[in-house]
Amino acid sequence: MATTKEYRLGEFTFPRGWFMIADAEELNTHKPIAVRFFGKDFALYRGRATGKIVLLDAYCPHMKTHLAAPNNTSYVVLDGGGSNVEGDDIRCPYHAWRFGADGKCNDIPYHQGPIPATACVKSWTVAESLGAIWVWHDPEGGEPEWEHPTLPQWDDPSWVRWKFDHLGVLNQHPQEVIDNICDYGHLSPIHGSTVERYENEFQGHTASQRQCGPHRTLVGEDGVSPILHTDTTYHGPGVLISHLTGLCESILMITHSPVDDGSIKVWHSVLVRSPGNNPVVTVPDTITARQFQDASRLSFMQDFEVWMNKAPCLNGLFIPSDGPFMKARIWYRQFYNPRAKKREFLDQCEGLYVPRGATPYTESAAAA
Ligand code: FES
Ligand SMILES: [Fe+2]
Repeated sequence: MATTKEYRLGEFTFPRGWFMIADAEELNTHKPIAVRFFGKDFALYRGRATGKIVLLDAYCPHMKTHLAAPNNTSYVVLDGGGSNVEGDDIRCPYHAWRFGADGKCNDIPYHQGPIPATACVKSWTVAESLGAIWVWHDPEGGEPEWEHPTLPQWDDPSWVRWKFDHLGVLNQHPQEVIDNICDYGHLSPIHGSTVERYENEFQGHTASQRQCGPHRTLVGEDGVSPILHTDTTYHGPGVLISHLTGLCESILMITHSPVDDGSIKVWHSVLVRSPGNNPVVTVPDTITARQFQDASRLSFMQDFEVWMNKAPCLNGLFIPSDGPFMKARIWYRQFYNPRAKKREFLDQCEGLYVPRGATPYTESAAAA
């Protein structure tokens, strides 16, 4: 693996954007969980009072105890029924200082008098949607630049909701995964797609790929692949959402979040419209949807297997018949630099691109 600096991405080590930090199912209990992203440790929990999600810097300012590391012996935890979450607050297992969802210490049981203003930890902007917990990460500390991921189909009873595949930590810089959005040349050898039409488009915080063709991994029950259409978009640097039609109407989401500089945590999931065309999904619909998600995961694992063993592509030998790798890399740099510089990068990459020799996906691209 290589670091952000080695890829020459910009001023920041970790990018600006919404990132998945947990499967919401991991917060079904009231125990806090320890998570690590952006080279930092965090305490993540669901408040008992309101159910709100809270993400705090992990280490208590008093003597640096981890607020959410597993603890089965402190009386703070034992008296809390196995959890140190109290209401929407969390109490440190060591000397029982209590912190609110805002990160401010609001109780020191053995101390009378004012609580020092510096007795606080950073509280992060979080959101819950699509069965996931998201954090807005911004090295400049700004408000979210775009909305966290949502899909109207998530609340539609004719769609089978996904369960996340936890693919673990990949020891590659996210740049290697981002390259995939414009990797025209890997679609046939890796996925067995016979690409008939293909294009990429970069616009603001989104990077898109539209393509169609038969596919050797995602095939129907008869083993035959219909023409599969995928309309795929990165919403910022960490969330890929792809609309698939032609086999099962479905929506695939792949999210990856930096853990340390040069490693990412990856999740995969697929939302599937009732395969039996039912207005409300049935048990057989759910079984078929799970099988489809499995097939999709295997298709993604074909990329993953290469990533697990490759050297970092710091200087690729790109050719005109490749997808627009350099444009995608410029697009990606906007998230590693101050917002004020965003336009500099967008001016160099926004637009529609078709690899040499390929047929554009949309007619407007053909005319251009
Ligand atoms: S270390 Fe947290 S209360 Fe002392
Ligand atoms: Fe791929």
